Amino acid sequence: MFYFQWKDSYLTHIDELDAQHQKLVALINNFYTDLLNCPENAEKQACIGKTLEELVAYSNYHFAAEEKLMLEHQYPAYQQHKQEHESFKRKVAALMQTQNEAANALPFPVVVFLRDWLTTHVIHTDKEYGPYLKERLQKS
Ligand SMILES: [Fe+2]
Ligand SMILES: [Fe+2]
Repeated sequence: MFYFQWKDSYLTHIDELDAQHQKLVALINNFYTDLLNCPENAEKQACIGKTLEELVAYSNYHFAAEEKLMLEHQYPAYQQHKQEHESFKRKVAALMQTQNEAANALPFPVVVFLRDWLTTHVIHTDKEYGPYLKERLQKS
C-alpha cells in the first residue's frame, strides 16, 4: 500500500504534465518510505535529506515546465498559477531550513503537507489548464 495513491481523477490530460505529476507522487512515496526506513542514528537526516532534495528539485523542474507551456499558450490564469508555485517553494524552503536546523526533527508533517498541497493544487489549479492547453496543443 502506497502512502500517496495516484488516482486518474488527477489527470489534466496533458500527457507530459500528467507523467510529471505521477513522478511527483512516486517521489513523495519514496520520501515517506525513507521516513520509515532511514536508520534512527546520526545518518538519519542525511538519509531523508537526499530524497527530500530530489523531490524539491523535481518539483521545481515540473513547475518550470508547466509555466513554460502556460506562457507559450497565453494561459489567462498564468500569474495566479505561478504565484501558487512560488508560495509552495517558499513554504518548502522554510520547512527544509527548520529540518536542517533541528537535527532530530521528524519531518512527518512535511510529507503530509507535500501530499496535501500537491493533491489540492493538481485537482483545483492544474486541472483548470487541461482543456485550455489541450485545445491549443491540438492546433499546433
Ligand atoms: Fe501547477
Ligand atoms: Fe502541476
